[in-house]
Amino acid sequence: MSVKIGKTILRHGLMLAPMAGFSDRFFRRICFEQGAEYTVSEMVSAKALCYDELSRSGALHKSADLAYIEPGAPPTAVQIFGGEPDFMKRAASLISTLSYRGAAGEFPCAIDINMGCPVRKVTGNGEGSALMKDPERAAAVVRAVAEGTSLPVTVKIRAGWDRAHVNAPELAKRLEASGASLICVHGRTRDQFYSPGVDLDVIKNVKKAVSVPVIGNGDINSAADAKRMLEYTGCDGLMLARGTLGNPWIFCEISAYLDGKPYIPPTDEERIETAVRHASSLVNGRGNRGVAEARGRISLYTKGFRGSASARASLNSAETFDEMKDILYSLLDRKEQDV
Ligand SMILES: Cc1cc2nc3c(=O)[nH]c(=O)nc-3n(C[C@H](O)[C@H](O)[C@H](O)COP(=O)(O)O)c2cc1C
Repeated sequence: MSVKIGKTILRHGLMLAPMAGFSDRFFRRICFEQGAEYTVSEMVSAKALCYDELSRSGALHKSADLAYIEPGAPPTAVQIFGGEPDFMKRAASLISTLSYRGAAGEFPCAIDINMGCPVRKVTGNGEGSALMKDPERAAAVVRAVAEGTSLPVTVKIRAGWDRAHVNAPELAKRLEASGASLICVHGRTRDQFYSPGVDLDVIKNVKKAVSVPVIGNGDINSAADAKRMLEYTGCDGLMLARGTLGNPWIFCEISAYLDGKPYIPPTDEERIETAVRHASSLVNGRGNRGVAEARGRISLYTKGFRGSASARASLNSAETFDEMKDILYSLLDRKEQDV
């Protein structure tokens, strides 16, 4: 099993999903270290990118920061959202130019289009998953993005808008004809948001409908889930979101399974050290804002440790990196005391 996206070839097609508020460059780096082969940025508003560009004063604006890829980073796509082809084209073109990225940033290996976001603020503007209700416009958006960039264009869709309108296979076919070089399918409709269980049949039907690579997404939280997704749907690669939070080692687990090797889970010390490193990179990269952002994300690594509930409460009010570090290491001390 391998996945080709433009010039990028992924051995197993193991991907970290776009997650607003989580899949920033700091977490992406941690996932790469643990075996992710490809990651996608948090979603970036095409309009905001265009307006930021117009009001640029040299500083890295929020949208540009979201689209920033560290020099030397492994394959990373930037995900954009929007329902207006002109803005989407301009945003794709900006992200693809050296003058916009500056000397510092790496080029993305693809531009991904968000056709899955279920939140009303986005769908209300005809963006995200609302595009699935309007295949004409969805196809126009893909064509416009493909005109705006020479990078591969990929699309992340859902099963459909609601269970009465499951149109992912037909839409995927149309998006492929409009220039999409990969389709990722989250096997739920927009009205299901993030539960219940994923519809593997719809992913299987998308795979049958198109000849570009199809990536299965939804509820892959173990090697057994990965096996089920691959075997049932015949998809080419796997995209993981919530299962990676606090557990980036899931990429190791799945690649060990795919390589037919045993999986050696991280020790408690490795888990805590990774959490500390994650917090440190956020704080070094973002200063005080990084402390606030680290609180919720770092807490996720404490699951399963004795005393984790009180550690989480303390982390939530920690004011400095040193405080966070002490709280995290105290979880290991507790374990030694318990022995
Ligand atoms: C906190 C959070 C933020 C998300 N942000 C995005 C996003 O920016 N773009 C996107 O296409 N999907 C986004 N998603 C959806 C995920 O990429 C993924 O499709 C969904 O969570 C199902 O995969 P999972 O079962 O592995 O979590 C987000 C999901 C979560 C939980």
